[in-house]
Amino acid sequence: IEFDGFANAPDLDYAELANRENAARAIDQVGNNLGQTYQPIINGNTVTAENFVDSLNPSKSEQVVGKIGLASIEQADQAIAAAKQAFPAWKKMSATDRGEILRRAADLMEQQRAELSAWIVWEVGKPVREADAEVSEAIDFCRYYAKEMERLAQPQYRHVPGEDNTYIYQPRGIALVISPWNFPLAIAMGMSVAAIAAGNTVILKPAEQASVIGAKIAEVLIAAGLPAGVFNYLPGKGSQVGAHLVKHPDVHLIAFTGSQEVGCNIYAEAAILRTGQKHLKRVIAEMGGKNGMIIDESSDLDQAVVGVVKSAFGYAGQKCSACSRAIVVASIYDPFIARLVEATRSLVVGDATAPDTKVGPVIDGSAQAKIRSYIAKGHETGKVALEMPAPEHGFYVGPTIVTDVAPDGVLAQEEIFGPVLAVIKAENFDQALAIANNTPYALTGGLYSRTPSHIKRAYQEFEVGNLYINRSITGALVDRHPFGGFKLSGVGSKAGGPDYLLQFLEPRAITENT
Ligand code: NAD
Ligand code: ALA
Repeated sequence: IEFDGFANAPDLDYAELANRENAARAIDQVGNNLGQTYQPIINGNTVTAENFVDSLNPSKSEQVVGKIGLASIEQADQAIAAAKQAFPAWKKMSATDRGEILRRAADLMEQQRAELSAWIVWEVGKPVREADAEVSEAIDFCRYYAKEMERLAQPQYRHVPGEDNTYIYQPRGIALVISPWNFPLAIAMGMSVAAIAAGNTVILKPAEQASVIGAKIAEVLIAAGLPAGVFNYLPGKGSQVGAHLVKHPDVHLIAFTGSQEVGCNIYAEAAILRTGQKHLKRVIAEMGGKNGMIIDESSDLDQAVVGVVKSAFGYAGQKCSACSRAIVVASIYDPFIARLVEATRSLVVGDATAPDTKVGPVIDGSAQAKIRSYIAKGHETGKVALEMPAPEHGFYVGPTIVTDVAPDGVLAQEEIFGPVLAVIKAENFDQALAIANNTPYALTGGLYSRTPSHIKRAYQEFEVGNLYINRSITGALVDRHPFGGFKLSGVGSKAGGPDYLLQFLEPRAITENT
């Protein structure tokens, strides 16, 4: 790919005392503002919900971060009507004018960076360095999609004697955005602004566990000047309001990121033609992974250990990109495990609001129980080389390493979405590659190697959407690392990449006989 100079927003450098002090201040300030009520916003107006759910601080689960008004089915229908009404004018606005609003949103997020990071820390238990990187990603999505749409808005002409041909893109209509809790700002913002940049109008149904951040997205986009109805914030239960909207005949496009189970269900439901529906729905579904990193006999073990620890335990393993399988060739298996265990043991596990925390809590009680059940399976089927203790007062699970895991075993096949790493022994590189490819997923993968022939084969044969060589496998940057998988990791083209916006557009070819 040729890159043409898109500049990613830099993360804050927390080696600077001023940045650390600023972060601590913002975390305190947000901590003093917990427990407010957040209502749906339809057509620019706050509406009153009848039912509420508490969004909890995973680090201290008795603390309510926000009271979330759950939109009703009637309110969901009102949001559709608002998005429908706003569409014609928004469609007509030029890509540059739409882009200006998104660039303003990006600038506002730069100004509010510390505060937005602090909300992420409080609501989803993400340590501040990673929360700050998420704000950078959200900023990048706004600027990148604004620029991309300006590129795509240029008509392409082909003239032949007696015939003028014009190729253009137009928006699809109403986009339903359904987002997960683990990147509550970047992913929800990214999917929404892609649709908006392309001229569609949006209903955002954020994850229940992260709807305060959803409200912050609405605040930013409204303050940036989006006309009423172009973006509607609709917190609600996925299984009720989300499912209702998926089936709605006026929805043209669904941009979903989340679990495989829900993604497959949406894909199936969206394929059914409903009464009054005059189009087929486009579904973008970015789903889970069971990402493997191969460590071969020629790898630099110092680098490999650091890369695996970061990839497996960053944000407590709750990234779709996280490493959940280390596939290690037999000749270095024992020394690698010994180093990996000691490096992991040095991680500080605790409250995400504390500046030295490296591994915070998991998102909620049901995630904690599910992850613990996988650890129990690890005890039954493998060797638990490390199970770190964790605080009691929130939803914590200590980083856990299970070795001697069978390549076909549950721990090697199912997405755990927590700080649990399965280590699998391979006889040689060939077998390691076969093991790496032997899951239904194809999201991220990694190779640590100094053998050129192995690296070359990984380029060709390692079946993942994002392959990383001699580095960690998380932290994709907009434009530099267009992100997304295939197989059961999803359908759709890569977020933050040159093909992404095409999914939000209808191409049209116009031929004039001259
Ligand atoms: P989830 O599938 O439980 O929920 C995602 C969203 O879907 C939420 O907003 C939820 O309310 C909604 N939802 C639930 N049931 C629904 C239904 N029947 N109809 C419509 N909407 C419904 O996922 P999660 O727990 O929020 O996120 C974690 C998952 O997301 C993991 O599997 C992870 O791998 C995946 N993920 C993938 C990517 C990627 O880019 N591939 C990125 C982040 C997360
Ligand atoms: N885009 C996120 C990452 O690369 C999920 O870690």
